[in-house]
Amino acid sequence: MNILILGGGGREHSLAWAVLQNPKCDRLVVAPGNAGIAAIAECAALDIEDGGAVAGFVTEEAIDFVIIGPEAPLAAGVADRLRDAGVLVFGPSQAAAQLEASKAFTKQVCDAAGAPTAAYGHFTDAAAAKAYVTAQGAPIVIKADGLAAGKGVIIAETAEAAHAAIDDMFGGAFGGAGAEVVVEEFMDGEEASFFVLCDGTNVLPIGTAQDHKRVGAGDTGPNTGGMGAYSPAPVLTDAIAERALAEIIRPTMAEMAARGMPYQGVLYAGLMIKDGAPRLVEYNVRFGDPECQVLMMRLGAQALDLMQAAAEARLDTAQVNWADDHAMTVVMAADGYPGSYAKGAVIRGLDGLPETSSQMVFHAGSKRVDGDITASGGRVLNVTARGAQLSEAAARAYEMVDQIDFPGGFCRRDIGWRALD
Ligand code: AMP
Ligand code: GLY
Repeated sequence: MNILILGGGGREHSLAWAVLQNPKCDRLVVAPGNAGIAAIAECAALDIEDGGAVAGFVTEEAIDFVIIGPEAPLAAGVADRLRDAGVLVFGPSQAAAQLEASKAFTKQVCDAAGAPTAAYGHFTDAAAAKAYVTAQGAPIVIKADGLAAGKGVIIAETAEAAHAAIDDMFGGAFGGAGAEVVVEEFMDGEEASFFVLCDGTNVLPIGTAQDHKRVGAGDTGPNTGGMGAYSPAPVLTDAIAERALAEIIRPTMAEMAARGMPYQGVLYAGLMIKDGAPRLVEYNVRFGDPECQVLMMRLGAQALDLMQAAAEARLDTAQVNWADDHAMTVVMAADGYPGSYAKGAVIRGLDGLPETSSQMVFHAGSKRVDGDITASGGRVLNVTARGAQLSEAAARAYEMVDQIDFPGGFCRRDIGWRALD
């Protein structure tokens, strides 16, 4: 099978790494890829949000299966374009991708499905949104409706802060994403991520994870795309996972099918868990980054079989072979991230590191310059390890971190602290 993966971050490096372990894979191309991916697969320069360009590449290169990593090509309808051309593809349609691309759409689907989530109001003007805040009181959550690269959510501790956030959003701080605003009840509890594969009808759980969104130790400081993750998430017990499937995920999938937009691909449900009950925080229509890295390390080669089964609508007969293990990934980022940061630092010490089924450095933002691996993004490396216990996975991951010489780089030293405590 000739396989094309779209994307070029740590998520896609881990997908490529897992796919390559499967003997079904004859040839793997990743577009655009990065320096880490280039060491294991062919990389192609391609505008991955241009469905026509991707479809043309697929024909020229005789690609049999396309796996779409990030949300942008999904929201741009690249999966539809490929399916129209008869190409087997893993990832939802543009219509179904609204589960991530529009928060108001997701709230309406949850309402129709009876899925527990935060109470909300949906607004197209600031005065009405502010009146809702005044009536509800703080803390309260203000969200830009559209895709805002993870930055469109403001948790306001006071009504004044909420009003200011509403003005910012309608004032264009998040561009078109903030033309509509959702104001939501603040939910407290512990957050965890639940990943399921869907084929339009069937749902297959493939793992749980928790990430650390804040940049600083003890989960302090500004939000990032994620500074590290671990799987499984102990807070998401089997009983809570069952409830999430029965009360949130299956009803959502049924509602999507009833709307004529069946969901196919991976569905990432962000859950808030309190007193044994899950409520939906958000859906994403792709694997989390860096959550994918720990899931791929635990699933290995079977990830390809499972994604293919989802694309071919036969998840009812698919099965996950679980190892009773744990995985952790530690993000190494450039100083200054998530604010502005320098690019171009040369990273040394990578060559001597193990590359095994239980230890792997995935590249997120790296570029090869004159033979050297250099930092080209905010999040640069995802140092990932597996172990019988989470503590073992952590020890293996930090052992590798300590051998990496990344001038001007940093990482959190406490990934997994909640679960390790
Ligand atoms: P989102 O982009 O919807 O994932 O929101 C980003 C983060 O904001 C989530 O991961 C939560 O930590 C937090 N968040 C979003 N909505 C709520 C809510 N209604 N109550 C509490 N925290 C929230
Ligand atoms: N790590 C969070 C996300 O991928 O959305």
